[in-house]
Amino acid sequence: MEGWGVAVFLAIESSCDETAVAILRGEAGGRTEVLASEVASQIEEHRVHGGVVPEVASRSHSLCLSGLVEQALATAGLRIAAVEVFGATMGPGLASSLLVGSTAAKAMACVAGKPFVGVNHLEGHLLSPFMDRTRVPGHVGLIVSGGHTLLMEVAGAGAYNRLGGTRDDAAGEAFDKVGKMLGLPYPGGPEIERVARDGDPGAFDFPRSMMADGGLDFSFSGLKTAVLYTLQREGKVKVEDVAASFQAAVVEVLVAKTLRAAKQVGADLIGLSGGVSSNMVVRAAFAERCEQEGIELVVAERRVCADNAAMIAFAGLLRFFAGRVDGLDGDIDPNMRLG
Ligand code: KG4
Ligand code: ZN
Repeated sequence: MEGWGVAVFLAIESSCDETAVAILRGEAGGRTEVLASEVASQIEEHRVHGGVVPEVASRSHSLCLSGLVEQALATAGLRIAAVEVFGATMGPGLASSLLVGSTAAKAMACVAGKPFVGVNHLEGHLLSPFMDRTRVPGHVGLIVSGGHTLLMEVAGAGAYNRLGGTRDDAAGEAFDKVGKMLGLPYPGGPEIERVARDGDPGAFDFPRSMMADGGLDFSFSGLKTAVLYTLQREGKVKVEDVAASFQAAVVEVLVAKTLRAAKQVGADLIGLSGGVSSNMVVRAAFAERCEQEGIELVVAERRVCADNAAMIAFAGLLRFFAGRVDGLDGDIDPNMRLG
């Protein structure tokens, strides 16, 4: 934005079950520096219910938000008056949770008389692999999280074209549901990765859905059902083997479809982001196949794979520098899309 060569941006993320506040200092066309990135996870509160309960989530956001803002300012060594732009996730996510974070950020912007920028949570994930660069390069991005499995063609920051996505469950959701079937604690993703280390990925031949159709969409509900039937049929199984075989099926489809997408659009760079991308088996499989195919791979740092506000501040800063500022009367959108 004109006159804003450098800006200090405070962002709030509260779309689901993490309350997060981050402060970034960014230079237009230059690097960004994360001055603070605080996350308060609600996992323990939701674990007793086996999943996220929206009302519990929004109440928890409102309870810990002001403390997190203070903590972020203390970590950054700044007073709130030093913040030049405020931002928040506007969607997609749980309506009541989005409202808490966005209303708080708007209130701070209003009182301080500073600009407000609304951010798409998916754009936050999508750009998160490139937070240490001075610009977002053209690439194919895969977002794999608890709510989304999305393949995007990215020409640069703000220029997105949707290539494919899941027709039913997101990859992380499948991890969580299969984790539950296996009697593992919520969230199932990290637990499946942990127990799968002692399992045989070839023990069960689970389906690799929609691989033969040549398209770029995903489906994980058939795989989830196949695991359920196997558990019902076999009775006593080695949980480690089921976890490893399930994980292998998910990983194979994610890698194959992403490489197919890159070939289709002629991209020589792949970006990988979202909670599931913190899985070391996922990261290793992408690294190996991309190297074989001569494609560069940039994976989000593990600390920004799961929901966080640093990625929201980064996407917000790029929007701000591109001249995008939002009114305080802008609404949240629980079903917000990208591209
Ligand atoms: O990005 P994220 O924090 O939230 C959403 O925007 O959805 O992703 C959370 C998802 C959950 O489904 C969780 O089980 C999954 O990411 N996840 C993992 C791992 N760590 C988190 N899945 C597989 N392996 C992991 N290590
Ligand atoms: Zn997310």
